[in-house]
Amino acid sequence: MRDASPQTTYLKDYTVPDYLIHKVALHFVLDEERTEVTARLTLSRNPASLSMSAALVLAGENLTLQRIILNDGEELVAADYVQAADSLTIYNVPQQQPFVLTIENTINPKINTALEGLYLSNGMLCTQCEAEGFRKITYFLDRPDVMATFTTTLVGDKSRYPVLLSNGNKIAHGELEANRHWVTWEDPFTKPCYLFALVAGQLECIEDHFTTQSGRDISLQIFVEPQDVDKCAHAMQSLQNAMRWDEEVYGCEYDLDLYMIVAVSHFNMGAMENKGLNVFNTKFVLARPDTATDSDYEHIEGVIAHEYFHNWTGNRITCRDWFQLSLKEGFTVFRDQEFTGDRTSKAVKRIEDVTMLRTRQFAEDAGPLAHPIRPEAYIEINNFYTVTIYEKGAEVVRMLHTLLGAERFRKGSDLYFARHDGQAVTCEDFVKAMEAANGVGLVQFRRWYSQAGTPVLTVSRRYDSQAQTLTLSISQECPPTPGQAVKEPLHIPVKVGLIYPDGTIAPCQLQGSADSAEEVILALTEAAQDFVFTGLSSEPAVSVLRGFSAPVKLVMERSLTELAFLLSHDSDTFNRWEAGQQLIGQAITGLIADVQNNRELRLDPIIIEAFRQVLAQPWEDLSYFSLLLSLPSETYLAEQMPVIDVVAIHTAREFVKLTLAEQLQNALQTLYLNNHRDESGCFDAGAIGRRRIKNTCLNYLCALDDPALKNWAHQQFKTAKNMTDQMAALTVMVNNPHYARRQCLAEFYQQWQHEALVIDKWFALQAASPAPDTFATVQALMAHPAFDLGTPNRIRALIGAFSQANPLHFHAANGQGYQFLADQIIALNTLNPQVASRMISALTSWRRYDAGRQALMTAQLERIMSTEAISKDVYEIASKSLA
Ligand code: PHE
Ligand code: ZN
Repeated sequence: MRDASPQTTYLKDYTVPDYLIHKVALHFVLDEERTEVTARLTLSRNPASLSMSAALVLAGENLTLQRIILNDGEELVAADYVQAADSLTIYNVPQQQPFVLTIENTINPKINTALEGLYLSNGMLCTQCEAEGFRKITYFLDRPDVMATFTTTLVGDKSRYPVLLSNGNKIAHGELEANRHWVTWEDPFTKPCYLFALVAGQLECIEDHFTTQSGRDISLQIFVEPQDVDKCAHAMQSLQNAMRWDEEVYGCEYDLDLYMIVAVSHFNMGAMENKGLNVFNTKFVLARPDTATDSDYEHIEGVIAHEYFHNWTGNRITCRDWFQLSLKEGFTVFRDQEFTGDRTSKAVKRIEDVTMLRTRQFAEDAGPLAHPIRPEAYIEINNFYTVTIYEKGAEVVRMLHTLLGAERFRKGSDLYFARHDGQAVTCEDFVKAMEAANGVGLVQFRRWYSQAGTPVLTVSRRYDSQAQTLTLSISQECPPTPGQAVKEPLHIPVKVGLIYPDGTIAPCQLQGSADSAEEVILALTEAAQDFVFTGLSSEPAVSVLRGFSAPVKLVMERSLTELAFLLSHDSDTFNRWEAGQQLIGQAITGLIADVQNNRELRLDPIIIEAFRQVLAQPWEDLSYFSLLLSLPSETYLAEQMPVIDVVAIHTAREFVKLTLAEQLQNALQTLYLNNHRDESGCFDAGAIGRRRIKNTCLNYLCALDDPALKNWAHQQFKTAKNMTDQMAALTVMVNNPHYARRQCLAEFYQQWQHEALVIDKWFALQAASPAPDTFATVQALMAHPAFDLGTPNRIRALIGAFSQANPLHFHAANGQGYQFLADQIIALNTLNPQVASRMISALTSWRRYDAGRQALMTAQLERIMSTEAISKDVYEIASKSLA
């Protein structure tokens, strides 16, 4: 083991930097195997630092040092500095302030398979510096509270690297001997080094522009590999939409004259908000109607917006240290969620975000890796780009928005921008701005930042017909998480509405208050509290936690009849859908027990009737309609079980799907046929909704053993001119027994073999299939010529989909799925530690399974722990999973 016990970094140990770097001039001579880097840094001692005679300690990894020059004069000699594996310490730093240090080193991008620092992607050179990648480019104070202006000169071969990009504005360029050229870029805004980027390669550019609210003209450029120029239009439109929205909703205008996006095929994450030069995973840029699904189109717009929004929430105002990561990520996710809700369907977007939160984040919060949105310790910061930091972080910002209201929230964000522009700040600074702008105190609310775990709200009610009052008793409790045995009560906004038995809205008037409204936000601050509603002529149904107003679990006893009533009458779109999910969820839970006890399976007619009623109504938002007809996922159902039984869950859920298909066949067929038309290339809500509802019907119908219906899928596959329809058809053919399954899989590969992103879908689809031969298929696909451990998208498509989206086969009782995953993690440990450690997550929840599986899963985690030269990334996740 290389890192027998890797170091932990603690928030409580934060101190300001001893030195500041004001100006950085970088000079790169680019080469695949030996890039020369010269960094000319203008530094000074930090007056705020308490340490008096500190040496200058710069971070650096995998660098070959050539020489160090002080104040453009003498080269330092060996006695002046000490080099270690991850640092360079310089003694006797000059007294004169500021001083200049010039460091020359070389790097080898070709062997950089971790994709952090400067690396190669399909012959293109590109960088990834967040969180601590800049230290793999040159020696530096690689921490976000050191902010400098950067000037970057790139020198390279004209044929290999015709395009040379970095942050800011292009200020000069020229030609050199030996077919080389150079470009100089200048970024006038100070930034931490994690926002630095360079890209060099044979790229094509598509160009458009945007006029800001103040009338400035911004040039917008998207750079892609030549074969992809025909897949950029949607990304460009998305960028313009995001720019407009941020002006309208937050008053934020873009600040440079140029905004560039580069799409790269080898990327560990989704995208990166480098100042003026975003680097994107191709997955979140490229789209053409025949290659990308409707959901791809939506994700692209969301991610483009997310990175764009970072220009203010992340770049202009950045994080003081990495413990504050949610300051930029939680806020920016909240912003992109709201943007997408405005662009598409608010109801659908909220449901999708909550579904993701409840399956993935709740699981994280309930397991050994639970951490607050502002963590207190980490071994490897790359492991903390989690659903908790991002998605729960966004929920915390959303709660502030709910508590304050849109207008006051905006006052708070305005003050936050005004106070902290150009600074590196903390989550505390954000909350303080919200308080100061509105004259409110958020003392208790701050606990959301420091406390991990998902609170459980228990709600009971009592109607008094004499007094015409309804009392809601709400209590909160949060289970212990690692390192936090005892939890304090949180400040929880609980949005409530009341509905009379005839379906009309009942007034919400709290005792002692003169206001009456259609809904109220209760402020739950104590461990247990009563809320009394008055003036209710008959007992209303209660709609609690409307819009999912807080990231909590709700426990409330409700009959199937009441849930069916809410499914028909709740005016809150989220809770209406939620009532349907609870209804069907309760039924499936009962059936899971029946499966486990070998009882005969029978679906309660109330469920069929509820679905029949949903089907009978006219719906304007067809995407929302599709969600009302969708069953909770196996992963969500698993979350609800004390001991997860993947086989029983799958069996019960499939039984429900089949029964509904049998009972509602006619209505589903009609709905399919009514919405089946070719609207390829149309992406308005109507066309997207029609595709979605149609494919939801197809999914039910192909559960039936009916050759005519199976042929519908086959025909749809053959005639589809858009990826949504083609993929939906192929999915049902792969997930159900189907006569043309093999043939269509082969045809699909044949058709799309040159489109990497489509081939990723082809891998993922097979890896996630419940078909009995899936494990053998996955093993065979590992040897497929198109599989490659060096491409993170491919790893996620095959290994990720199998381990995270196929509970049935990954958790095979004999442990073959676990062993397979551990083999891949061990192989990836040296190749790409970040991706390796993300793949462990499927094993982390081992405590949730039966004893047999627990033993098999922990055995694989232990095997991973004994990996030779284990990376910090893998070590941290595997060891904490076992702890
Ligand atoms: N900061 C990026 C985002 O959320 C995510 C990212 C982190 C990308 C680290 C690469 C490396 O927008
Ligand atoms: Zn982000």
